[in-house]
Amino acid sequence: MRIKYTIPIVFFVALVIIEKENSIVSRVSDKLALKQTSQTPLQPSGSYRTLPKHNGSFAPLGKMDSAFMLMKRRLVDYSQHQEVVTEGRRHILLLATTRTGSSLVGEFFNQQRDNMFYLFEPLWHVEKMLTLETGGTNATAAVKAYRDVLRRLFLCDFSLLERFIDPLPADHTTAALFRRSSSSSLCEASVCSPAIKGVFERYHCRNRRCGPLNLTMASGSCLQKEHRVIKSVRVRQLENLRPLAEDPHLDVRFIQLVRDPRAVLASRMVAFAAKYKNWKQWAVDGDVPIDNDEVKKLKGNCDNIRMSAEIGLRQPTWLRRRYMLVRYEDIARFPLRKAAEMYRFAGIPLTPQVRSWILKNTQASKGTSGVYSTQKNSSEQVEKWRFSLPFKIAQVVQKVCGPTLKLFGYKIVSSEEMLRDKSFSLIEDKVFKFL
Ligand SMILES: *[C@@H]1O[C@H](CO)[C@@H](O)[C@H](O)[C@H]1NC(C)=O
Ligand SMILES: *[C@@H]1O[C@H](CO)[C@@H](O)[C@H](O)[C@H]1NC(C)=O
Ligand SMILES: *[C@@H]1O[C@H](CO)[C@@H](O)[C@H](O)[C@H]1NC(C)=O
Repeated sequence: MRIKYTIPIVFFVALVIIEKENSIVSRVSDKLALKQTSQTPLQPSGSYRTLPKHNGSFAPLGKMDSAFMLMKRRLVDYSQHQEVVTEGRRHILLLATTRTGSSLVGEFFNQQRDNMFYLFEPLWHVEKMLTLETGGTNATAAVKAYRDVLRRLFLCDFSLLERFIDPLPADHTTAALFRRSSSSSLCEASVCSPAIKGVFERYHCRNRRCGPLNLTMASGSCLQKEHRVIKSVRVRQLENLRPLAEDPHLDVRFIQLVRDPRAVLASRMVAFAAKYKNWKQWAVDGDVPIDNDEVKKLKGNCDNIRMSAEIGLRQPTWLRRRYMLVRYEDIARFPLRKAAEMYRFAGIPLTPQVRSWILKNTQASKGTSGVYSTQKNSSEQVEKWRFSLPFKIAQVVQKVCGPTLKLFGYKIVSSEEMLRDKSFSLIEDKVFKFL
């Protein structure tokens, strides 16, 4: 990629030299200079003609002016040209929190195998290492580490991530990469070194048996792919990633995935039972200590998500055309339509392969009765929480996450009947506008 940049720059330097010579020539002989400019196809005739008329002695200066304008125009042309060079290659960051359907949405991209390099939660290693080292208290260090690792990974450079993998990879090779098999790119034949008998025999990588991951090979595979997608539930504030959006070597697009915080809590109480045992106890007791640290943490999470979305929706210059907000509920109800929107936003064509994967994995196939169907009807799944979450807990979420619910269009329930009544939708139809 670096080579692609140097070509227009070198070319430009050469043009500047030619241009300077033109000016010198024009000073030596007006006649010759006029002849030259009229023959130069790149001459922006419009701007030259609109220059104010000077008397004879100022004419060479006027020509130098026009030469300078020409240079400026060419500089603009080349910087636009440079954008064209990176334009084909997209870097998509899928930002979410746990239990918001981010694995499903990640899979929407992962399934486009041929030209897509997808990484599932690489920041897991970073978070783990920082928590071990600093007790997870240094937020500044985490922000910087997350950003730097993401940047390097978007450029297919695994060296910084390696430093966070425990045990430290030897010869750039590791058997400890978190959820390697979630990434189809990391299980391709070209990245799958033979399994070592006895040691990694049980290590399945999608449909293959692979030995430890050679990160040099992974990087090679990444470089071959046109687009790169990383999913992460660990970034707290979108604003922290501003340097990525402004990095001239990247064309980053952020897709923020959100879900009703009441549904998220209900889902976490099931998925992370041990961690959420207090909530489960409160659900039984029917009483929630509102000033408890865990309730404060819930509020903090809601605020982070809302503030990130507020920045995204405000569309500051650095985020223009780089931010999209998607509600999980809309994906669950209209998976194909939302996938098409995300792909359009990303500037990547949606392949028939992805389309059929989505249809197959989000709808119960016709003719199979619900109980025996392995494929879930995602539209049905999306409201299940309304029957498992105690009304009292829903009220607490509404209290501490009120502004978040409002921003994303999730309706408040004022009674247990309202919560359980499925004929009353809790999802407002909401269109989020992006430039
Ligand atoms: C937190 O991390 C930053 C950046 O790495 C560092 O400069 C600072 O000293 C750290 N603070 C503490 C309290 O460790
Ligand atoms: C990893 O792959 C690279 C590139 O194919 C190769 O040169 C290197 O020897 C491999 N490393 C190990 C430890 O096998
Ligand atoms: C999925 O469930 C929804 C809501 O119950 C229903 O309207 C829809 O027809 C179902 N879709 C399929 C493919 O079964």
